[in-house]
Amino acid sequence: MTNASSITKAVIPAAGLGTRFLPATKAMPKEMLPVVDKPAIQYVVAEAVKAGFTDLLMITGRNKRALEDHFDRVPSLEGSLEAKGDDEKLEAIREATRLGDIHYVRQGDPRGLGHAVLCAKKHVGHEPFAVLLGDDLIDERDELLSVMAAVQLKTGGSVIALMEVEPEQISAYGCANVVAVEGGDFVKVLGLVEKPAVEDAPSNLAVIGRYLLHPRVFEVLEHTAPGRGNEIQLTDALQELAAAEGDGAGVHAVVFRGRRYDTGDKLSYLQANITLAVDHEDLGPGLKSWLKDFVADLDD
Ligand code: G1P
Repeated sequence: MTNASSITKAVIPAAGLGTRFLPATKAMPKEMLPVVDKPAIQYVVAEAVKAGFTDLLMITGRNKRALEDHFDRVPSLEGSLEAKGDDEKLEAIREATRLGDIHYVRQGDPRGLGHAVLCAKKHVGHEPFAVLLGDDLIDERDELLSVMAAVQLKTGGSVIALMEVEPEQISAYGCANVVAVEGGDFVKVLGLVEKPAVEDAPSNLAVIGRYLLHPRVFEVLEHTAPGRGNEIQLTDALQELAAAEGDGAGVHAVVFRGRRYDTGDKLSYLQANITLAVDHEDLGPGLKSWLKDFVADLDD
């Protein structure tokens, strides 16, 4: 489905060091870790393309060459699969190369998500754009970006996505203080705080990794001081935009109630793999019946 707005550009930050996955990510980008049968990043690129964003910019860094290779053609491999008549595998490797127009820019010095987004300034220019974080996978059967795009069209400004989490989980996320918008299926963001302690959190609404941003965010990011973890935080820039006035100010949010899979740490990555594999056309039935026996045999 394409989005209702005219947003065409999407930024996918992929410069993180992946330290939570060491040693698996010592020589390989974390975005290339497979989720069932595809690298995690491919789900995100496919979601962006499905939402109608035709111009994708990936923010990469050192050790990220595999990302460019994955979305590029490999004529020799295609040739040998063609010669063998292996159409299924041929289609599987071509899928990633047909997803759209992907550009790359390097974030030389990884100084946080806000800084990664600022690296997109030249490419994006003066139009609203999307940001999709690779650790969050949104189930393709659920709509999020298209809903956010409709809100962005209505409100101008920036639109973020929130999800209710257990109160004790909020310190792993940006957290939003919101107020209902009369007659709207979205909310207005009054304030944002990056990874608050449970007792300081204004709500249990967590920021998830989908954003539609007004280009004014670049101006703000240029002077945003390092925040939590000594990194330039996108959350801090959005907090400033939420409180600002004039053109491009204001932040609204869609509260997502669909299926989101977190691939950001080892445990949730394993859970995401199992959850998605159970629904997989080919692998699902076999995995399900094995899982039932496996669980029945588990010790308490
Ligand atoms: C980033 C953002 C955070 C957001 C999270 C969503 O944090 O800074 O506000 O809640 O993504 O996944 P990270 O997970 O990169 O530490």
